[in-house]
Amino acid sequence: MKKHIGLLVIASVASINTTQAEGDIEMGRALSSQCSSCHGDAGISNVDIYPNIAGQKLNYLIEQLEKYKSGDRKNPTMEAIVGPLTSQDIEDLAAYFYSNKPIPTYSPLTGILDLQFVGVDTQLFKAQMSVFSGDPFTLKLDSLEGR
Ligand code: HEC
Repeated sequence: MKKHIGLLVIASVASINTTQAEGDIEMGRALSSQCSSCHGDAGISNVDIYPNIAGQKLNYLIEQLEKYKSGDRKNPTMEAIVGPLTSQDIEDLAAYFYSNKPIPTYSPLTGILDLQFVGVDTQLFKAQMSVFSGDPFTLKLDSLEGR
């Protein structure tokens, strides 16, 4: 019996570790307040010298942040920011920014194309468009919610 309990504990610790290995979007969102002054709230920057990082590929984001941390990629600003972050923080941030991409859903019944930015709160940004003309296929922006 004792042996079984021991195994169970190992099994649950192992499963906790697997969940931690993947980035947590919510944690990343909380951490991203340190990034928004340059990269914008959702990773879309309105300043020319700061790259957009929303919707960027997950592994690319992780790799760049790790490179700033190790000094393989040099940029004094980013090196200073990434310095105190743990690998878990980096994965969480990457998961958050990666998830900030539009997921389009189209309803042929209403002709409405809904663009939801999943990582971002739907309250933060949501666009709705409808088909304006079939030939050529054009869309009209009906609503854009932002803060
Ligand atoms: C003070 C401004 C500033 C802040 C704050 C900032 N960054 Fe950056 N970031 C930059 C600049 C400038 C670059 C371009 C650096 C370069 O040329 O390598 C950059 C580059 C990056 C890149 C590489 C983009 C690419 O296309 O290769 C990533 C990823 C990134 N930042 C993520 C973050 C994250 C995550 C945070 C918050 C933890 C953050 N940054 C905070 C200014 C900032």
